[in-house]
Amino acid sequence: MASATEIYSGAVDKGLEGVVACTTKISSIIDATLTYAGYTIEDLAEHSNFEEVVFLLWNNRLPKPNELEQLRKDIASNIKLETELVKVLKTIPTKNIHPMAWLRTAVSLMGLYDSQAEATTPEGRRAVAIRLTSKMGQLVSAFERIRMGKEIIEPVKEKSVAWNFLYTLKGKEPETDLVKIFDTCLVLHADHELNCSAFASRVTSSSLSDIYSSVVSAIGALKGPLHGGANEQVMLMLKKIGSLEKAKSWIKDALDNKEKIMGFGHRVYKNGDPRAKILATMSEKLTKKMGEGHWYEMSKLIDDTVQSEKGLLPNVDFYSATVYYSMGIPIDLYTPIFAVSRISGWLAHIFEQYSNNRIYRPRGEYTGNRNLKR
Ligand code: ACO
Repeated sequence: MASATEIYSGAVDKGLEGVVACTTKISSIIDATLTYAGYTIEDLAEHSNFEEVVFLLWNNRLPKPNELEQLRKDIASNIKLETELVKVLKTIPTKNIHPMAWLRTAVSLMGLYDSQAEATTPEGRRAVAIRLTSKMGQLVSAFERIRMGKEIIEPVKEKSVAWNFLYTLKGKEPETDLVKIFDTCLVLHADHELNCSAFASRVTSSSLSDIYSSVVSAIGALKGPLHGGANEQVMLMLKKIGSLEKAKSWIKDALDNKEKIMGFGHRVYKNGDPRAKILATMSEKLTKKMGEGHWYEMSKLIDDTVQSEKGLLPNVDFYSATVYYSMGIPIDLYTPIFAVSRISGWLAHIFEQYSNNRIYRPRGEYTGNRNLKR
């Protein structure tokens, strides 16, 4: 009998590199240019904000002022975590639990408390999407508060997703310029074409499963160190290296030992990730402002060394690590923060998948035993 590769193209495409699995209008990567619905990431980072980007990704156009106002109102009226949900969240373990594992569980639990979780109408699905986008940051800050034995803080309805995340995480009103930096980070991380987690969300929704299940799949994919988990690993690496003097030889040794340097390389960008360039500038300014400039200096030296030794360029995760570190955010929350932003892109992909669906069902080339008998 013919095998899968004999029936199809003849070669196994490990990692699906270069495979075009769907059409999309959400975001594009062409050479070193990233756009969301036609707007470059540089333009959006400078002139937009997270809420506007959410609308852009979901509607394929920028909002009119009243539409943005409505979205902000919808987010405001959904941002607080329900008392019943908080009660249950306080009972699940946090000790020695990775925040991404907790977040995966928390989002799944949230679905059990959402009466529209199984909605299939556009209105019902939008309501679920608003709840997930509003609450993702609140879940992450709740995790931090619960594990530190502190009370969960109520978000302020009039404020943005970025402001409320920093406020409820730290328990004090954040500085305006830090809110702006964090909001820009949310804009930069919102979507990225058919990345591993967006693909995971689309695979799950292609079976016509519900939004919560699709988002939980995406969180699981983002958690891994080859994807969103790399930002946390970058900061751990910088701390392990410890000083500027040791950085070059540490990196050379790691490369000689065939180790991967976290925050470098990309499946699609071969001439540099445009988000990394924006984040490098943010990292330089912020680390210096906070008196932590040595982290940027060390990052820059690592960047130069990896480029000269291996020809690899930094990706979004490399300089975001020092930006978050300078803001005093706990290192293991960096990947959950990625989810606080990327929820917007996942939802856009889930909607797009529902609107033009065919179930994902590739083939696997069988390489196991044959003709055995028991
Ligand atoms: N450090 C050292 N070598 C690397 C790195 C790296 N960061 N990235 C790739 N390489 C090398 C590989 O070892 C391989 O070398 P070889 O041909 O000699 O075996 C070659 O470059 C190709 O690498 P692959 O892993 O096959 O590339 P792939 O496209 O499958 O993976 C990925 C891309 C996962 C991003 C990879 O570059 C990597 O593991 N980087 C480190 C983790 C990371 O930063 N992930 C975040 C990516 S951005 C995001 O998802 C948000």
